[in-house]
Amino acid sequence: MATTTGSFIAGGIAACGAVTVTHGFETVKIRLQLQGELQSKQEAVRLYRGVFHGVGVILKNEGPRGLLRGLGCAYVYQMTLNGCRLGFYEPLRKTVTNMIYKDPTVQSFGINLFSGAASGILGAAAGSPFFLIKTRLQSYSPFLPVGTQHHYQNAVDGMRQIYSQEGIKGLYRGVGPAMVRTGFGSSVQLPTYFFAKRRLVQHFGMEEGMPLHIASSTASGFVVCCVMHPPDTVMSRMYNQTGNLYSSAFDCLYRTVKTEGIFAVYKGYFAHLARILPHTVSQAYRPYCEVEQ
Ligand SMILES: *[C@@H]1O[C@H](CO)[C@@H](O)[C@H](O)[C@H]1NC(C)=O
Repeated sequence: MATTTGSFIAGGIAACGAVTVTHGFETVKIRLQLQGELQSKQEAVRLYRGVFHGVGVILKNEGPRGLLRGLGCAYVYQMTLNGCRLGFYEPLRKTVTNMIYKDPTVQSFGINLFSGAASGILGAAAGSPFFLIKTRLQSYSPFLPVGTQHHYQNAVDGMRQIYSQEGIKGLYRGVGPAMVRTGFGSSVQLPTYFFAKRRLVQHFGMEEGMPLHIASSTASGFVVCCVMHPPDTVMSRMYNQTGNLYSSAFDCLYRTVKTEGIFAVYKGYFAHLARILPHTVSQAYRPYCEVEQ
């Protein structure tokens, strides 16, 4: 694994490029997840009717600016997440490997996976306030609002307002589901990637190379999105709330499913997929600690 400052910066720039390209889908995803919250299917008004409809409506009413709300926050979040992954992965992996095998140079898939997930979870915790503000900036719309409309001028203003009204606790609202979400994603991505790869080689006779990488990472992207999306929906809703609509993430999950049906946790799935696939596919495969989110 590359650890030099140069490669950190290069990796950061590449990640920010991917974030820029897919940010619009993320905006649509958040609005899809929030619309019709705690309303039965009959009473819920569907302002946004899917990924492409959502992108179209936002472009028409708010222009490209509407799709790119919260982009600055997305960069800071991405940097925090990647920084934690690069910073914690190796030390963690070495320590645990040394504890179990008495030799830090052993490569164990299980330990590597654990270290990747754990450093991702730490990154998600550290970056949660940025994700919170990003979510609120993205759900803000002067035309078709869904969710609480928070009038933040920008990320710094958002941070200042939340801190002065609710303190540190307010900034860390929703950190639980945020950690679960990244933990789920990080632990599923590589096993499914390798599983898909083996199957494609066995059953379709594909050979090592770009097409195999693209096919395997696409397959793994679908699965990653399936496990990540329910905690992601809970997270978006916890981030939206300002009062005490939900007492906990479990309360949110329970009431969402009870009022809107089981598929409510998959609202915005395709927008999420559109957000994730370009990341998973474009990643030059870096061992054990990669999943965007
Ligand atoms: C967002 O949070 C507010 C305040 O907690 C709540 O009233 C609202 O129902 C939530 N959801 C939406 C879609 O507005």
